Parts: sequence; C-alpha cells; structure tokens
Amino acid sequence: MRFRSKKGTKFFLKATVLAIVLLTAGCDPGETVGPDPTAAHDPESVKEQSFSWTETDLLKADFTLYRVDCASLNTDSFPEGCSAGLLQSLSDMPYGEDPGTHALWGYHEDPAILRDDDSLGKGLTVSKWVTDKEAPEPSKVAICYDFSVPDGTYTVTLGFYNPFGVRKIYVDCEDTNKIKKEKILRFNENEKSFEAKVTDGTLNLKVYNPDAKTFMESPILSYITVAVEPEYTRKLLTAAVEAMKVDDAEELYTEKTASAYISCLESAEAFLAKESNNGKNQIKQKFNDLRESYKMLTKKIKYDSFNPGSVWTDTEGTPIQAHGGQVQQLEIPDPETGKTVTKWVWVGEDKTNGYRGGVCAYTSDDLYNWQFEGIIMRNVSSRKALEKEAYFKSLYAGYTDDQLDNVALALDAERAVIERPKLIYNEKNKQYVLWFHADGPTATSDSNYAAACAGVAVSDTPFGPYRFVGRYRLNTCPPDQEDKHPQSKGMARDMNLFKDTDGTAYIIYSSEENLTLYISKLNEDYTYLETPPEEAVYGKDFIRLFPGAQREAPALFLKDGKYYLMTSGCTGWAPNQARYYVSDSVMGEWTSKGDPCIGDTNHTTFESQSTCIFRDVNSGKWIYMGDRWFSDKLNDSRYIWLPIVFKENGDMEISFVSDWRLQ
Ligand code: DGJ
Repeated sequence: MRFRSKKGTKFFLKATVLAIVLLTAGCDPGETVGPDPTAAHDPESVKEQSFSWTETDLLKADFTLYRVDCASLNTDSFPEGCSAGLLQSLSDMPYGEDPGTHALWGYHEDPAILRDDDSLGKGLTVSKWVTDKEAPEPSKVAICYDFSVPDGTYTVTLGFYNPFGVRKIYVDCEDTNKIKKEKILRFNENEKSFEAKVTDGTLNLKVYNPDAKTFMESPILSYITVAVEPEYTRKLLTAAVEAMKVDDAEELYTEKTASAYISCLESAEAFLAKESNNGKNQIKQKFNDLRESYKMLTKKIKYDSFNPGSVWTDTEGTPIQAHGGQVQQLEIPDPETGKTVTKWVWVGEDKTNGYRGGVCAYTSDDLYNWQFEGIIMRNVSSRKALEKEAYFKSLYAGYTDDQLDNVALALDAERAVIERPKLIYNEKNKQYVLWFHADGPTATSDSNYAAACAGVAVSDTPFGPYRFVGRYRLNTCPPDQEDKHPQSKGMARDMNLFKDTDGTAYIIYSSEENLTLYISKLNEDYTYLETPPEEAVYGKDFIRLFPGAQREAPALFLKDGKYYLMTSGCTGWAPNQARYYVSDSVMGEWTSKGDPCIGDTNHTTFESQSTCIFRDVNSGKWIYMGDRWFSDKLNDSRYIWLPIVFKENGDMEISFVSDWRLQ
C-alpha cells in the first residue's frame, strides 16, 4: 500500500462530478433518495454520476458519508450495530469505484500494511491495519485513504484499537497535520476526531508515524467515519423529531435512557411549537440533545437464567462491575418507602477504568437482574481532592491531616490497589463494614502488592459512601512455627469474611507472601482484629492454614454443620486448579478435599477464580461465584456462577453449565 500522491488522486477525481444535494439545498423530506437510480454502472460513467438524498436519509445515516471497518475481510457486511455511510456499499475496499454507490473511495494498497484481527476488539475494532514486521522503513509506512465528498466541512473520526504497547500516531488530512504524536494507549477506547475542510472533491487521509524505528511503533487503524456537519435549521429539527420518534420508549428501553430521551424529545417538540424559535444555536442544542439521547437508548434486558462467561449487564444495560465480589441477602431500607426490604446485595471491584477503581454495589430480587446502587467506596484522585471535593469533604470531616494522608495513600486512584471487597453487617451497632484487600506501593517498594494490607471502611447505610478507617497488616507466624516468609510480617492479600452462627466474624486471607492462608477473629464491631497481633493467641485468635501450599481467593461457608473453604492457586490473573477444604469449626482442623470441579479438563476451575459461595434461600441451591479475569482488559472480565452439587457424604461438585436457572 503506497501513499498515492495527492496530485495523482486529485487528477483522477477532477473528472468526477458529485452533485450532492445537502440539507440546505432545499430538498423536501421524501423528495429524492440517493443514489440516483439513473446513474450508469459502467465505471466510465462515474464522471457524470450524481447523488442526492433526503434529510431523513442523512438523519438515518447519522450524517455519515463513510463508515469504514478498516481491514475487514467480510466487506459485504458491517459488524452488528454499525451501518454503512451514505456513499458506500462495502465496509472497506481498495481505492476505486464503490460497486453500489459509484463513489470513489478506499485505501491505497501497500505491501507494508497488513490486515489484523483481534477477538478482544469489538465491532469495528475487531479488524485493523497493522505494519508488516519486515517493512524496511517503518517511519515511511502510512495507511492512506481517499474519499470523494462534496466540498464542505467534515468531521473525521478515527478509531484505533491497540492490543500492543503504547503507539504514537500522526494524521494528515487535506495536506494538513491534524494529529501529532498522539498516544494510542493499550486497550483504551482510542478515538480521535477533527474537522477537515474539503475544496477539491476528495478528502485525503494519511495515518503514519515518522518517528517509528521498528514495526512496533508503526501506525495502526481500526475504523474511520467521515460525517458531514449538519445545517441547524427548523427543518432539520422537524425531520429529526420525526425520524427519532419512538412510541414505546419506556417499555423498550432502560429507565434512565428512556426518560432522558423523552425529555429531549418533548423539549424539541415544545421548541418547534413556537413559531418564533429560529435561533441556530438553540436549534443546534435541541437537535444535539435529541440525537445524543436517542443514541443512548439502551434496550432493557430481562435475564431469567445464568450464562457464565457471557457479558452480564445491569438493569440499565451497563456491564456489571463487581469483580472479586460477594453476594449475600440483606435487609435494607427501601429509599422510597423507608420500610425494610430483603434484597440480594452484590459488592465487588469497579474495573470500569481498568486495574484501579473503587467498590460498586448492586441489588437484585431474583439473582439474575441487578440494579446498580453506585460506587459505594470511591478511590481518590489526589490528597487535595479529600479537602476540596464535596463528597470527600463531608465524608472525612473531622479527620486529622495524618488520617487524611492515610486515606489518600490507601485509596489513591493512581497507585492504590483495591481488591476483593466484602461487606458485613453489624447487628449490634447497625453499621455496615466493608473489608478489602488494600494494597499498593510502599516507601521502599514500587510493587503494586507491597503494602499487603487488609483495609476497612464503614457506613451507616448499605450503599455508602463508605468512610475509610484504616489498612492493616494482620497476625504473624508464632515463633514456634515455620514462617514461610519471615522477611515481611503480617501480610494480608486476597481475603474474604465469614460470620458464624454465634455472630463471631472472621477474616480469611493469604499471608506470608501468599504461601499460607490465615483465619483471624474480628472484634465485636467487625472493624479490626479481636486481639491485636502483638497479643494474639494462636488457635484462639487466629490460625495458619496449609503453610507453603500457596492458596488464595478464599471463600468460606457453612453447610449442614460443616465448614467449607474454597481456594485457588496463585497464578496472577491466570486461572488455575481449585482446591477445597472442610472442617468441623472455623478455627479447627481443615482437611483437603481436592478439586471440586467435574469435567474441568484444563484444570482451571472452568477458567475462573473463586470469590464467594452462597446459598439461594428460595431454591436451596448453592452457587459458586468466580471471576474469569481478562488481564488485558480487566473491565471486561466475566463472572462464572455455577450450581454446586453436594453428594450425600458432603463432598462438593461443580460442573460447567452454560445456561442454568435456579428452579
Ligand atoms: C490473583 C488475585 O486473586 C486477584 O485478586 C489479583 O490480586 C490478581 N492475583 C493480580 O495478579
């Protein structure tokens, strides 16, 4: 693929007459529809061809003349949810005449540019152009497209899906540099837009990196859209109201998106009802609000089964962010009636922005459909934010400077690691207590897991905001036992909580550099250990389990008088073989029962890692809850919920079921 000289391209296109009737050209809706059916199909006739369309056509195409799924192999179709621009019939093609619309457009072929597919990408980001490893001069490689368009101003949007290291991109359009040294971050939603003025019938685009020394620094490109800037007239707004009318929005779409859309539609209609309203800026505002709210409409999904490993969305259609989580039934106050209602509550890590985030909560009546209750514990963008942002100011009112320093350190959005949050309700003082694996670098180590602490936050209401209380190292190996990691005492990483029938609560966690699990008794408030580490008595206040066995992701539960402890091995984000243990009491002797998974041929716990095991009171079913981590895209990590079968002798068995119900 060589960059055609602009001169050559323009010369060819000079012969092309594209008379495009745009909105302002006075066409009535429904008057003409492009392309012109009289246009000849002989390439030679391209020169005489003309296009026209109605406002409704433009609205339907979202003002997009081209939407290119770069490097797509299946050019006859578009990924789900995407459609062609008005001047194209294929999703991508080498430069030439479009077989459907006869417009001239496409990429310029070059042996240094290769197609690449990535299953982690979605829709338009599955396929992309990349540079050949063997390309002799990476700095000269360029991905070039030309698009015939009527003269005017366009919004050009480029999408880059980058599964590699950070890349830098330059983009030229119409011989002007529009994007310079732009960082294309790994796995981010990398989309860049700019305006381009076309005066010669063709929009030229060149994506490159003149600083590239190896192919790993050369350009990539996933998609392009070329959209025409609308003319904001009453006529446009009238057509928009008509084209974007959805009768049963409330029934079909999620509550929030439907009500936003309805209010924008009503506001546009009210605006149009007044003859005097002609101001361009007001029309633009109404039009854009309507268009945006229409685009945001999200179909309601009502689940009636579990589909382990599939994307699981909340009642607003947003993928659930509750990783490393816990599900339990709680009596909580109904904000509308003030009365107490029984709800399933799911808390977990918010990985919306990747590795670092706060803690989210969701509620449900049926365990299938989950309503987002908010980020119940936020991380903190800076020390200053604690004293500036209203949310933190009221939450931490009365904290000393030292205490605030501590909060900033433990919840730092740039450095702290907040994992495996678990919630416990304290009947005695009516407080909700959130424990989590609180980690991050320390003064002496840059490792994300150097702090190795257990963190605590409290709230008087189930959905917070939770106020951070402290993060602690916990119990240490008694002197008469063999410490598997004597260099660093009291470490606490992957953790869980368990409340016994007598109300005593325990924290179960990986310690001694993850080599040994510990169970430690919590105090009556559930906010710290029953006995501080210096005074703790082995066997009474804490126990060590399976020294050297390297287990993490603990999930402890009680069934028929027997205590079960599910665990995973320690292999980072990669899944490994589960192992469970049983005991007659929390602080008693634990016996290994091996892997409970049946038919798990890869020995990866069905590609998941345990986080919680609980019982559905209505069906009596026990549910294994695990995370299938996608280390490269943590926010897309999936939930693996599976039914557990207990044999007569109490042994636990978990099989993979791709679609299952409680009843
Ligand atoms: C495994 C743990 O169980 C997760 O919570 C997380 O800490 C990853 N390791 C990080 O590699």
